[in-house]
Amino acid sequence: MPQARWRKQMELGYEPLDNEHKEFFEVVQKSTEASQVGDFATMEWVFDKAYDYARDHFSHEEDIMERIHFPDIEAHMRAHQIFIKNISELRQQYEVASSEEDKGKIAVKTANFLNVWLLGHILSRDKVYKPYLVRLRNLPPRMNYDGKVLEEGQ
Ligand SMILES: [Fe+2]
Ligand SMILES: [Fe+2]
Repeated sequence: MPQARWRKQMELGYEPLDNEHKEFFEVVQKSTEASQVGDFATMEWVFDKAYDYARDHFSHEEDIMERIHFPDIEAHMRAHQIFIKNISELRQQYEVASSEEDKGKIAVKTANFLNVWLLGHILSRDKVYKPYLVRLRNLPPRMNYDGKVLEEGQ
């Protein structure tokens, strides 16, 4: 199973989004550990967190992309929607699984999906809007999310 680990090269240079990404890496790491030992209580937590993350982080990211007029926003939003659909389907499968063995298999499938998705999405999709984040600097303070300023050199 690929292990999604946070690396410096994944940084967007905008702290609020970087922190959210790091938080998701922790959830994904938990899914790897829990699926390997059949820790079902933690898997329930993973499903909850992954879903909450998707809802909160995606809307934060989409709101920013809109304000900086990121041109490829539609395709990016579709990718987010597909994630929500996939994780919801996995959760459904997990909940109706009648044996521990089946639950275990779906847990492994879920951990795999989360690891692959997170690496692929952050490295290939989120990276694309990174150069546009500089536009946040030029927005009026009210629009400059959380009043945070981009790190110098980004
Ligand atoms: Fe994204
Ligand atoms: Fe993201």
